[in-house]
Amino acid sequence: MKSICADLVLQRLAPDAGAALNRQLYDCLREAILDGSLPPSSPLPASRDLAREIAMSRNTVLHAYAQLQAEGYVHSRVGSGTFVAATTPESQLSAGRARAAAPEAPAAVRLAKRAQALVADAAAAPRQWGAFMPGVPDVTQFPHRTFGRIVSRLWRAPTPDLLTYSHGGGHPALREAIAEHLRVARAVRCNADQVLVTEGVHQAIDLSLRMLADPRDTVWVEEPGYWGFHKVLQMDGTRVRALKVETGDDSPEAGWPHGGTPPRLIFVTPSHQYPLGSVMSLARRRALLDHARASGGWIFEDDYDSEFRFAGRPIPSMQGLEPDSPVIYVGTFSKTLFPGLRVGYMVLPRALAAPFRTAHADLYREGHALTQVALAELIDQGHYAAHIRRMRVLYARRRALLAGLIATHLGPAYLHPQASNAGLHLVLQLPEGCDDVAVSQDAEAHGVLTRPLSRYYRRKSAQRGLLLGYACVQEADIEPAFQVLLGCLKRARAA
Ligand SMILES: Cc1ncc(COP(=O)(O)O)c(C=O)c1O
Repeated sequence: MKSICADLVLQRLAPDAGAALNRQLYDCLREAILDGSLPPSSPLPASRDLAREIAMSRNTVLHAYAQLQAEGYVHSRVGSGTFVAATTPESQLSAGRARAAAPEAPAAVRLAKRAQALVADAAAAPRQWGAFMPGVPDVTQFPHRTFGRIVSRLWRAPTPDLLTYSHGGGHPALREAIAEHLRVARAVRCNADQVLVTEGVHQAIDLSLRMLADPRDTVWVEEPGYWGFHKVLQMDGTRVRALKVETGDDSPEAGWPHGGTPPRLIFVTPSHQYPLGSVMSLARRRALLDHARASGGWIFEDDYDSEFRFAGRPIPSMQGLEPDSPVIYVGTFSKTLFPGLRVGYMVLPRALAAPFRTAHADLYREGHALTQVALAELIDQGHYAAHIRRMRVLYARRRALLAGLIATHLGPAYLHPQASNAGLHLVLQLPEGCDDVAVSQDAEAHGVLTRPLSRYYRRKSAQRGLLLGYACVQEADIEPAFQVLLGCLKRARAA
């Protein structure tokens, strides 16, 4: 007479399943344990007996038993045999299945005041791809095969340090590669020990604020300025004062906040002002550096897209203007590679490097070491510089195409006069009184993404315009999307 176990196996074993025999036997026994056909603590036949009863080799049965034991479905006692475990591994992993929440309106909650303001005026766009999404590079061009090859090689034998919590401000290989790239490409004065790898510019803003400004301390932010500065500042409770962007012929200190306490931090985008696209004059750079030195404050230099300059020589970083400058230089791979990577970097003045590294590890817990090593290889093997060179040519063509359409259909006055030939977007200037928010909404309703320029100002007397990203738009799609936009502008004029 066959054992119950053998009967169960013979009933359940599919005659022609593709998997190896020991895997099929393991599946049958596991299923029987889970559905209670083999109850907790019941004995399994000796491997030799089961093998004979189901006409398999003893090795096959031993393999299946070993796998069940390794996963905790059975245990064996020397001299007495193999038994079904009292509790299944599944029951130890699950706290009982919860029901999916009913689709009713969630109850009102009281958010912190700062969070209420943030949520009520959220700025991050839900759609991030398509004409004319500003700030997004052409991610389809990323050398994913090369990167994939590096990543899969590293995954074949990852060392423990690539998989545990990291510590020390980023993997040394990446910090070294970033330092070398920045010294050459951006004239940044730095060593690898000043580099701290972040999850992007927003994390760098947050860390700098937490480390250098107490609530109600003063900070200066460019006006107009990057919305990300304001969002993080809003949550950190600092006093924000507007540092107006130069208009070209004014003195270096025109538009600076007057009176009040000196700023702990000054947030600027000197090489390519965001959003207008201008370049900060040397006189203003020096004046800001002097001001920060004299008052014990720091300059936060957001150098988010300076690799993409299409005419003239690159604009060197502000950090590199002077030795030991009071500048926190910040960059990102979001624009040069792809935003979803979430890797950026800070170059810290020497005095700040160690405390920032410690705080970074304590506040955010570091990781992604494997990605960081892969990125370091991409840079060291020259693929990163080659990708930037290729993208520079591509983006320059796209920019010229879009600028040409604006000049032809609307006139050169619609191109922002301060813009330099660089970056991933340009600003379409609109006549005063034109509601750029309404035009942007109308365009979105017709499938074209833009950002209204007035949203980058805190003052009411904002300039009107639209930020048009060209980098992520295939050349063939630029003119059709622009025609849609022309239709929106016509409707706005008629309204
Ligand atoms: C001026 C500026 N800084 C920073 C960022 C964001 O960088 P990250 O993706 O590294 O957070 C952007 C993104 O559009 C930007 O425009």
